[in-house]
Amino acid sequence: MSQAVSLGIDLGTSELKAILLDARGVVLGQAGAPVTLSRRRTGWSEQNPADWWQGCVTALGQLRSQQSDAWTRIECLGLSGQMHGAVLLDDAGQTLYPAILWDDSRAVPQAEQLNREFPEYAQITGSLAMAGLTAPKLLWLRQNEPEMFAKIDCVLSPKDYLRLVLTGERVSDMSDAAGTLWLDVVRRQWYEPMLRATGLSLAQMPRLLEADQLSGTLNAEAARLLGLPVGLPVAAGGGDNPVSAVGIGAINAGDAFVTLGTSAAIVAITDHAAGNPASAVHSFCHALPKRWYTMGAMLAGASCLRWVTRLLGQPDEQTLLDQVRMALPVDQPVAATCPMFLPYLAGERTPHNDPLLRGGFMSLGHDSTPAMLGYAVLEGVGFGLLDAMNAALSAGAKVNACALVGGGARSEYWAQLLANILDREVYTLHGSELSACIGAAKLGLLVIGQGVETLHNAMPIKARYRPIASVQPALQARYAKFRGLLPAAQGLHG
Ligand code: XUL
Repeated sequence: MSQAVSLGIDLGTSELKAILLDARGVVLGQAGAPVTLSRRRTGWSEQNPADWWQGCVTALGQLRSQQSDAWTRIECLGLSGQMHGAVLLDDAGQTLYPAILWDDSRAVPQAEQLNREFPEYAQITGSLAMAGLTAPKLLWLRQNEPEMFAKIDCVLSPKDYLRLVLTGERVSDMSDAAGTLWLDVVRRQWYEPMLRATGLSLAQMPRLLEADQLSGTLNAEAARLLGLPVGLPVAAGGGDNPVSAVGIGAINAGDAFVTLGTSAAIVAITDHAAGNPASAVHSFCHALPKRWYTMGAMLAGASCLRWVTRLLGQPDEQTLLDQVRMALPVDQPVAATCPMFLPYLAGERTPHNDPLLRGGFMSLGHDSTPAMLGYAVLEGVGFGLLDAMNAALSAGAKVNACALVGGGARSEYWAQLLANILDREVYTLHGSELSACIGAAKLGLLVIGQGVETLHNAMPIKARYRPIASVQPALQARYAKFRGLLPAAQGLHG
């Protein structure tokens, strides 16, 4: 008998990716389509939900033509997506406004207002109010776009918009709902006082499910467009970080990983909603029932490397990484005179909760080379992750060895530098660049009662990087200086 195939879709910020996964957890094919982002005002970050759907049709069309046999064996579908975005629907289900994304910082005053007026909510919702999270954005809309706000019939997270088109259902899951700040993360239900604080009510929220539950089935229009059967079961799915965790097999308390993509985060799985929102960590629901995770989230990660590569006029990131490797061997102590970098190109969440903070180079000299600046960027992102890890530890999370996933995991140099900085073993995995899609596809399989064993399948380890003791004193001294630069950076805005 042939294996059931699951379709996993991850709606990223720069690309929508899709894969086919069989019930043993083997990836049969993958495809992707870029999604465009608009920054029509400083600090704004928006996408058009219709473009997500177009990207989905394009990527799925590619996958179908590449994998025509496997396509006919698709028995379920699972979703993953960028978190904290706000999709606003009117009562006819039409979008009222562009989707406001996770890295949009217009709602700084509204986040401050929520923290000031309702300080006790942070413990219940699992996080301080931050401009990038959904609830403050709705308060911004209420204050700045009141006519449009009055028409809002439902607020969805990005991947839940795709579900709406696929199935007609208004549903979200616990892991994405936690990222809105409207969820009581311990009880795993909407928290009405926070909804009221942003001018909304329960009636405007989608129905809540756990990520591995059936959210609806494929409708006739989507089925026709995609060449899939009407009635195909669609799992609730979840936010990209928790679903990636499912993808790599990080499902038990004590499992931890670092993700280095456009943004970066350190994610530690817990068996309870860990506290200490004051340290600006998020304690959110995992994409599996009765599990949670603590996340220290950075707004710029591997995007800092992309930025400096372009700035230095280098042809690509690998060319710059090669120069860094030659000039500053990762197993030798770095010179104290090497420039330093603050990685706040898009502000910062953990531990500073300051989207207006900006980055910078320090200690530049006539002798500074592209390699030194490249090194400083890799190290600065690493120090930001150390800050984020310390915040997660302060909330009671445990971080032992860490998997490294996302585009940044391609660099062995960066992986070793992170091991040295975090003072933890860091390991890379085969196939981790598809972790969110794989997690989504696994959640799809659970809905049809298959693939339970794939949950426990950790991805095969590609390489292990253990901290090199001889380079750590120099790094620790530089980390102390890095921390010392923060007040100056904070003094430059506001
Ligand atoms: C997590 C976060 C980002 C987005 C985009 O809190 O904001 O990782 O999920 O991928």
